[in-house]
Amino acid sequence: MRRFIITVLLLSVLNSVTGENCYPKKFNSSSVVCVCNENNCGDIGKVKAEDGKIALYQSSMSGERLQRSTVDFLSGAPAAERDLTVSLINTHLQKIIGFGGALTDAAGVHWAGLGSTLQKRLLQSYYGPEGLEYNMGRIPMAACDFSTRDYTYADTPGDFELKNFALAKEDLELKIPMIQFAKNVSKEEIYFFGSPWGAPAWMKTNEKTYGKGTLKGSPGGQYFKSWANYFVKFYESYKEHGITMWGFTVQNEPTTGFKPWPWQTVAMSPYTERDFLKKDLGPALFKATSNSINIMVLDDNRVVLPWWANVIFSDPEANRYAAGLAVHWYTDTLRNSSDLESIHRDFGDKIIVNTEACEGFEFLITPVILGSWERGEAYARDILEDLRHHVNAWVDWNLFLNTEGGPNWAGNRVDSAIIVDTKTSTFYKQPTYYAIAHFSKFIPRGSVRLDDALDGSQEKLTVVTFLRPDKLKATVILNRNDSVKKVLIKGLDGKSFMVEATARSITTALW
Ligand SMILES: *[C@@H]1O[C@H](CO)[C@@H](O)[C@H](O)[C@H]1NC(C)=O
Ligand SMILES: *[C@@H]1O[C@H](CO)[C@@H](O)[C@H](O)[C@H]1NC(C)=O
Ligand SMILES: *[C@@H]1O[C@H](CO)[C@@H](O)[C@H](O)[C@H]1NC(C)=O
Ligand SMILES: *[C@@H]1O[C@H](CO)[C@@H](O)[C@H](O)[C@H]1NC(C)=O
Repeated sequence: MRRFIITVLLLSVLNSVTGENCYPKKFNSSSVVCVCNENNCGDIGKVKAEDGKIALYQSSMSGERLQRSTVDFLSGAPAAERDLTVSLINTHLQKIIGFGGALTDAAGVHWAGLGSTLQKRLLQSYYGPEGLEYNMGRIPMAACDFSTRDYTYADTPGDFELKNFALAKEDLELKIPMIQFAKNVSKEEIYFFGSPWGAPAWMKTNEKTYGKGTLKGSPGGQYFKSWANYFVKFYESYKEHGITMWGFTVQNEPTTGFKPWPWQTVAMSPYTERDFLKKDLGPALFKATSNSINIMVLDDNRVVLPWWANVIFSDPEANRYAAGLAVHWYTDTLRNSSDLESIHRDFGDKIIVNTEACEGFEFLITPVILGSWERGEAYARDILEDLRHHVNAWVDWNLFLNTEGGPNWAGNRVDSAIIVDTKTSTFYKQPTYYAIAHFSKFIPRGSVRLDDALDGSQEKLTVVTFLRPDKLKATVILNRNDSVKKVLIKGLDGKSFMVEATARSITTALW
């Protein structure tokens, strides 16, 4: 009974602080999800600046979701009392390519299972102006763990010329329709990139798409040539459906296949990736796309980032084909951002894209927690740290999963920013969804990061600023502390303003 009263009180508080942009629902966790069903779907809507003022959008553990307010520029000297001073510097750092998520088979299964109203709302929530305004998408090439079965596009043994190459029903019935829908609701070009997990079993040393194994032979040999051609066939097949890939990663998590791995993989060392890129994959994809393709190496965790970059980019021929690096977030808390700084210092012409992130992946951790603010904070913290260290784009993992965090044929269930409850035809926008919104909706493609000098406590308090193509600035502040923090922002023209970042909040200032 007492818990019931507390819940009712809490819900009424939450209802009073959120507007029509969120229909909150509280589960057993630190914050709320926003509910979307056939009748109601709290859209974020377009974000807008305020003439002569600063528009602030704030989300917090206590239940705000992109709550808008405005503040004035300070006249006269700012009050001395503040926790952090951010002085912007007129140095332009990396340019933003975009934000996005992955159109996996698992996402497709849930999407296809809903009625047409919710199908539209799901994709609008990510790619539409009502939602996150995503402009990137990762497409697994054939099955990965987030599929309901194991398959590739070329399962006929010995078919080196890939005469029997064919897209699967998952592409034709799930992924391609979803992508076409996403393209329809998006206001700008979406940059799609393909990533392979397993190669056909007959091409691999262990005769399995998964497990411990590499491609047979060596780069330049018939297996590697055929595998490069597989990318070209994939590129051409999607193009026939009106979807032109912007890029590829060479191999999803190439370090995993050196041990008995429970789902699809191909082991590749940086030396193999280098030689495959220069002898097979680079020439094949450049020819097929008239040199207009962005090939990213690594597609694995930060721990091995400098090794891959040094081996591949120091080879002039391989380097010619590499647009940059794809990085996953799974070891980011073990490894600080100095690796990203060294990549920027040594290979400043390369792009860096975060190509995968999710919560709930660790052993014995609950895959899905509905309403976890801590998970939203973890996303905001990682995106912010990446953006402070030269990362050009940040792409999430599965667009949507179910309340169990699947389906996943290998049992590797995890969380995602939107969770679909197929039984009640409802979906839930998690705190991670809103954490991404604070960046993706405010930092359009072509924005450049403005350097800054920070003075004060940065313990649990981080900030980043971008100059947008429309000349507005977007400043994102993450406060992970349990008390309010006062942040003074000093602009390039000497004008300044104060932001009160409430406890456990994310704030974006548009000005
Ligand atoms: C709520 O979650 C906590 C841990 O996060 C757990 O200990 C508790 O049993 C849960 N309560 C209910 C009613 O599920
Ligand atoms: C995309 O929009 C066009 C034009 O409005 C329409 O004909 C087509 O059916 C739409 N496709 C999807 C998948 O919504
Ligand atoms: C980051 O880690 C490296 C070692 O991997 C260490 O030398 C460096 O001091 C660390 N930097 C920060 C800012 O913690
Ligand atoms: C949070 O802020 C307070 C001061 O407002 C400070 O004393 C405390 O150390 C901070 N906590 C953490 C974990 O940073």
